[in-house]
Amino acid sequence: MEALELTDKKIDEVRQGEAFSPFDNDPNKYSKKFYIESYGCAMNFSDSEIVASILQGEGFGATRNTEEADLIFINTCSIREKAEQTVRKRLTEFRKMKKEKPGMLVGVLGCMAERLKSKFLEEEKLVDLVIGPDAYRTLPGLITEAETGQKGVNVLLSREETYSDIAPVRLNSNGISAFISIMRGCNNMCSFCVVPFTRGRERSRDAHSIVNEARDLFERGYKEVTLLGQNVDSYYFTDSNHPMDKAITFAQLLEMVALVDPSLRVRFSTSHPKDITEDVLITISKYENICNYIHLPLQSGSSRVLQLMNRTYTRDWYKAKIDQIRKILPECGISSDIITGFCTETEEDHQDTLSLMEYSEYDMSYMFFYSERPGTLAARRYEDDIPEETKKRRLAEVVALQNRLSHESNKKDVGKSYKVLIEGESKKNDQEWKGRSSQNKTIVFPKADFDVQAGDYVMVKVTSCTQATLLGEIESI
Ligand code: SAH
Ligand code: SF4
Ligand code: F3S
Repeated sequence: MEALELTDKKIDEVRQGEAFSPFDNDPNKYSKKFYIESYGCAMNFSDSEIVASILQGEGFGATRNTEEADLIFINTCSIREKAEQTVRKRLTEFRKMKKEKPGMLVGVLGCMAERLKSKFLEEEKLVDLVIGPDAYRTLPGLITEAETGQKGVNVLLSREETYSDIAPVRLNSNGISAFISIMRGCNNMCSFCVVPFTRGRERSRDAHSIVNEARDLFERGYKEVTLLGQNVDSYYFTDSNHPMDKAITFAQLLEMVALVDPSLRVRFSTSHPKDITEDVLITISKYENICNYIHLPLQSGSSRVLQLMNRTYTRDWYKAKIDQIRKILPECGISSDIITGFCTETEEDHQDTLSLMEYSEYDMSYMFFYSERPGTLAARRYEDDIPEETKKRRLAEVVALQNRLSHESNKKDVGKSYKVLIEGESKKNDQEWKGRSSQNKTIVFPKADFDVQAGDYVMVKVTSCTQATLLGEIESI
């Protein structure tokens, strides 16, 4: 590989952040170009930014145009069968491109790479590289190998890797909001879920490197960070260099990040109902810049199904969590994930899900029908016995209920004022801004004559709403 020589200074600049725009078109800067496309959860998008940083350090420039690319990466998701089908379709398109440009390399990253390992190379002959989520540091060597015609595979999972020293290159950022990965892997064994197999054991990233990343982002003008993990409430960092120091919990980490600056908003995802603590809720209530918003996936409202799912909480436990959140954080937005048609789910179980959604008054939910994943506990233990049309009918009912709940929640906000972080112009009308409230609701409002820009905070009074969006006007800046 003819990597462009980078001076130490430049490497340092890259490691610290965006010394160059990731999509710099100057052909003298980068001898080769990579294109990366991401699927799945925020963790995957965040990982693509780590991959971009590693590649840039090796002299590869990012491009948004597949035709220009010497290297094409697809960062994949295995969570549901449909997610994998989407990736396969995309690979078929890359195969066509490769026919026209035989020197181009195609690499599969992420969860599907981890799940299928070298089987991928048998199934998809065009793929040159298969790299799992914990092996991105070995990318440069594997690319060199692939350039000589060998196939490069590394799907080793790690108990330690957190990429804590690698400064992500922000790929599709608006310059205002960024993700910060605080942990990797998952130790829960929800029976439907492939993540523990694709991402390995849970490990927490050094708290100081997280705070440094937040500070660095703030200094570069970012106004909002989202702390990411599959189960953020089980964040627990012990410093192996200072074993006598006390461990840092998620509540403490939240506080440390909130203290970076009062005008830096802090969000986090995802919380597990069994692990979110009162300490976390109290910390949220203490800091105005920690957003009043919790994503608290329910999955099912039936205790019997929850047990089969191995979620380790019951319907009553979940209700008590909702009560506790509403008590400590009365203004808190709450959202959820729901699965319909899990193994053995009866109509009564399904009704339990609907009634618990009503109880929780979710502002928003991500809703899915159950998709059996090979190798998971559910696939091994239970029959996927609910007919697809029943799964889909129940899903439609869940979606219809959520639509009503979202609309009701939005209607309650009409007449109230919210502090909104402006994220940019509204897509539909360049005379309007769009932004979000602390509760994570999108608000659209006319620019009027106020001298503000993206990245500013404004107070917006909500004047009306649709099911998905609040509409308002600037009250003050
Ligand atoms: N770590 C997070 C979310 C992980 S995946 C959590 O614990 O909540 C995101 C969502 O995908 C899950 O919350 C679940 O609702 C859904 N999901 C996971 N596996 C699935 C499967 N096999 N079929 C359908 N939906 C699934
Ligand atoms: Fe999957 Fe459960 Fe872990 Fe979430 S907590 S990633 S659903 S195993
Ligand atoms: Fe998908 Fe992997 Fe995330 S399976 S949801 S990309 S952790």
